[in-house]
Amino acid sequence: MLLITGASGGLGQLIAGHLAGRDDVVLGTRRPAESERHVDFDDPASLDFSGIDTLLLISAGEGEDDIVIRRHEAAISAAEEAGVRHIVYTSLSGDGDHLAYALAHRWTERRLRGSSVDGTILRNGLYAEFLAAIAAPGPDLTIAAPLGGGRLAAVARADLAEAAARVSTDPAAHAGKVYELVGEVALGGAELAAAVGGSYEPSSLAKAREALTGSVSHSFQVPMLVGTYSAIAGGFLDGASLPRGELRALLGRAPQSAIEVYAATVRASA
Ligand SMILES: NC(=O)c1ccc[n+]([C@@H]2O[C@H](COP(=O)([O-])OP(=O)(O)OC[C@H]3O[C@@H](n4cnc5c(N)ncnc54)[C@H](OP(=O)(O)O)[C@@H]3O)[C@@H](O)[C@H]2O)c1
Repeated sequence: MLLITGASGGLGQLIAGHLAGRDDVVLGTRRPAESERHVDFDDPASLDFSGIDTLLLISAGEGEDDIVIRRHEAAISAAEEAGVRHIVYTSLSGDGDHLAYALAHRWTERRLRGSSVDGTILRNGLYAEFLAAIAAPGPDLTIAAPLGGGRLAAVARADLAEAAARVSTDPAAHAGKVYELVGEVALGGAELAAAVGGSYEPSSLAKAREALTGSVSHSFQVPMLVGTYSAIAGGFLDGASLPRGELRALLGRAPQSAIEVYAATVRASA
């Protein structure tokens, strides 16, 4: 039996779509519908994984490091206690170590390496859909984001979902593996502007910080997002330092065009 945590999130829903109708898959989420299971890493009573062979552990949202680490520790400990044989974890691409949210991912990877349970790490790159949120054109189609001359190897969330579904339904073939799942074409401000028929005007980190300070729901999101711009602008997230083709190999086809996903997401949110 495969249990997918975080099944109501953007990634989890797409994974569930791939596995719909299978009687060896159960969906876990904090607010379960009928036939789903209540799974909340903050609620120890919901972490009974008995009878589960494989746990697909979707990283538990945004949060301060101590909160996210506590959640992942609770999930992994519960899996160990229940005799789960394999944990597949959705992590962050290996070129993301400068990002503020990297620490909790690397902590979890290390925790899994030290576990007696078999593990597979899916190091997901930043979504093309996320890029559409942080580098959205304004009403005049100007993209004023502090990306400098940097590029992001953005990846379609749907491709990451399909890869996760494939790996977690055939876990033995992927035991001990770490996959770098980023886009094959890195996107910078000029490409994004061309895709939406607008222009790119590089902004500054200070301006972004000022704008974010008044608009995000949680104060920890400000350094997370400013740091993301800074890492892209610094040239750390263009995928050049990572092994090539791992997403393509898992999918058995070319990844979706990230620029098309970016443009479609921008259009859909207009
Ligand atoms: N690569 C990227 O660009 C990118 C962007 C944003 C986030 N992420 C990371 O990747 C994860 C999946 O992405 P997404 O697009 O699905 O994010 P999302 O739509 O924001 O969903 C948040 C996810 O966190 C889970 N979660 C939050 N608190 C939890 C808790 N206490 N116990 C168990 N699960 C909890 C949610 O599960 P339920 O609501 O189903 O309970 C849901 O799966 C995120 O959680 C985040 O860590 C990656």
